[in-house]
Amino acid sequence: MAGENDAVIAAWNTVLFDKFHRFKHLLTEGLAAHSDEALARHVHPEAARVLDVGCGFGDSAQRIAGYVGPRGAVVGVDCAGNFVEAATQDALRAGIGNVSFFEADVQTDDLRGPYDFAFSRFGTMFFTMPGAALRNIRNALEPGGRLTMVVWRRREDNPWLHDAEVRVREIVPVVSHEDTDQVHCGPGPFSMAGPDMVSSLLCSAGYDRIAFERYDADICIGRDLAEAIEFAMALGPAGEIIRLAGEEGERRKPEVVAALRETLAPHAREDGVWAPSSTWFVTARNP
Ligand SMILES: C[S@@+](CC[C@H](N)C(=O)[O-])C[C@H]1O[C@@H](n2cnc3c(N)ncnc32)[C@H](O)[C@@H]1O
Repeated sequence: MAGENDAVIAAWNTVLFDKFHRFKHLLTEGLAAHSDEALARHVHPEAARVLDVGCGFGDSAQRIAGYVGPRGAVVGVDCAGNFVEAATQDALRAGIGNVSFFEADVQTDDLRGPYDFAFSRFGTMFFTMPGAALRNIRNALEPGGRLTMVVWRRREDNPWLHDAEVRVREIVPVVSHEDTDQVHCGPGPFSMAGPDMVSSLLCSAGYDRIAFERYDADICIGRDLAEAIEFAMALGPAGEIIRLAGEEGERRKPEVVAALRETLAPHAREDGVWAPSSTWFVTARNP
């Protein structure tokens, strides 16, 4: 298992970091539609200590830092040193003093608690050992502390990712994680889409008061159609299929571009390409 997670950490630190960096403007703004609503509904009060799990560029940690104020503290953790470095620099540039970041594997490492709250926007779906990770997060929470996770709901309600995956699967041969030596993202964005499975995981990890709220929002997936096609070919399951297919993925790209143009064109508007997306806000308490 440790070997498998090395491949995941390496992916987030290299190819996926590079892709996230390239599309940072779309990701941080688009994904914030979900985290802003989750944070509005699930308050992180003044003076609270908060852990941001799988913090990426740290923009949600910065947002929470505004809620908890100078008497509170937000600590972002990510397994990829490149994200930790980028998050640290962004927070410094923004002059935010009550936020810090460190590098650790949430599944196995000390999370430097205790915290009053843990929050994660799309940072918990890539664990190869989700039960161990959720237990480790709970152990870092004070008794009564709350975890809020924003995770993607089922594929069919997330056409911004799923439609591209369906088209790419028709064209590019799929290489499974087991059949490649290449680094990969881990279980993938829909691994926590099923509330029954996720509530069982949370129960096993020792949480109670587990609740799921659905939230739907259109998000911008490109400032124009060309960018939306590039974005779809780089990220999510479609991007991973193309990348893991190696030379064959490259060779089939013209066909993929044509298919994605057809699929994404109906979502194009004057202000960019916008597609429906849907998440669960999952909340759970450390008893
Ligand atoms: C989809 S990104 C989300 C980043 C950020 N929260 C956001 O919403 O923009 C998933 C993040 O989880 C991190 N991650 C994946 N597995 C992890 C692990 N085992 N421990 C810590 N971080 C992990 C990745 O490095 C990546 O930054």
